[in-house]
Amino acid sequence: MIDKHNRNINYLRVSITDRCNLRCIYCMPKEGISFIGHQDILSYEEILRIVKIAIKAGIVKVRVTGGEPLVRRGVIDFLTRLKTIEGLHDISLTTNGILLEALAEEIYDAGIRRINISLDSLVEEKYRDITRVGNLRMVLRGIEKARSVGFSPIKINVVAIRGFNDEEIVDFAKLTLNNPYQVRFIEYMPIGTPALDNSLGYLSGDAVKEKINNFRSLMPVLKKPGEADGPARIYKMEGALGEIGLISSMSHEFCESCNRLRLTADGHLKACLLSDGESDLKGPLRAECSDSELEELIRKAILDKPRMHLMNCHEIQRKKCVRSMSSIGG
Ligand code: 5AD
Ligand code: SF4
Repeated sequence: MIDKHNRNINYLRVSITDRCNLRCIYCMPKEGISFIGHQDILSYEEILRIVKIAIKAGIVKVRVTGGEPLVRRGVIDFLTRLKTIEGLHDISLTTNGILLEALAEEIYDAGIRRINISLDSLVEEKYRDITRVGNLRMVLRGIEKARSVGFSPIKINVVAIRGFNDEEIVDFAKLTLNNPYQVRFIEYMPIGTPALDNSLGYLSGDAVKEKINNFRSLMPVLKKPGEADGPARIYKMEGALGEIGLISSMSHEFCESCNRLRLTADGHLKACLLSDGESDLKGPLRAECSDSELEELIRKAILDKPRMHLMNCHEIQRKKCVRSMSSIGG
């Protein structure tokens, strides 16, 4: 469906839980966040119904996210059922990789082929620092396992944070030399983390590009129409098997190419990650509304999608987003 600003909204990110087995410092406070109660989390049944109706409103791609989606009980069965829904051309999963070694085979058998793994440092202690509790080796084994099982593409998401992983950019890029991975650098966005008081800064996509270019030349990869990676700019290092992606959410304005909607674990539809506006689907769903009423709500959310975010506006930054990233699903 085309929104008011001529964008084709065809991509739905579905957060199936706000819980996580990590505590990344930019995402959650040490103690974790006040988790949504079980009653308020959409059942898999409810999510599948929303997805089916969203397809009628033009959605063709779904990404399953969290929190950490692999910590929710029954996730494999859910993925298997999601895969059988007609009209979905593309289903993918975003995970922090901790449980991937154990679950990769089952996820693959459920029919999922595309996987994104979040990994912000390749140094064991630094990985522990940023995730507070994470074990780097588990994630690396998970990535290896995903590769051997046959996932493709495998994308590694690196949040680029000034003063934290600037010195690791080239090491991350080197992963693409002999592996068919797409390593994507995402500019850190100061949202939903009041504890940090927005003290972390982002490392810009251009700075990342320059660091890699100084090591080895980067060439732009042109994607065919329809294969475009949303807002990512894609490059390849000379002679590399894999690709480098730059997602410059802060330094470049890319709202005009944003094609996504987000469903939160507690059943709210967000048309823009960076706006507090959202529409409640769970209420109507549990009040036994009809499919066409739900479809109408989804269409309205698409129509009302804001033209652009105001992340770089200081007033907005101070206001701070109400929801943390873990409850929206990134
Ligand atoms: N800025 C940028 N990326 C973020 N993610 C989580 N919080 C932020 C943030 N504040 C990333 C995760 C993961 C994806 C789902 O979103 O690291 O790669
Ligand atoms: Fe978990 Fe992802 Fe948040 Fe880290 S960023 S705490 S992995 S939800």
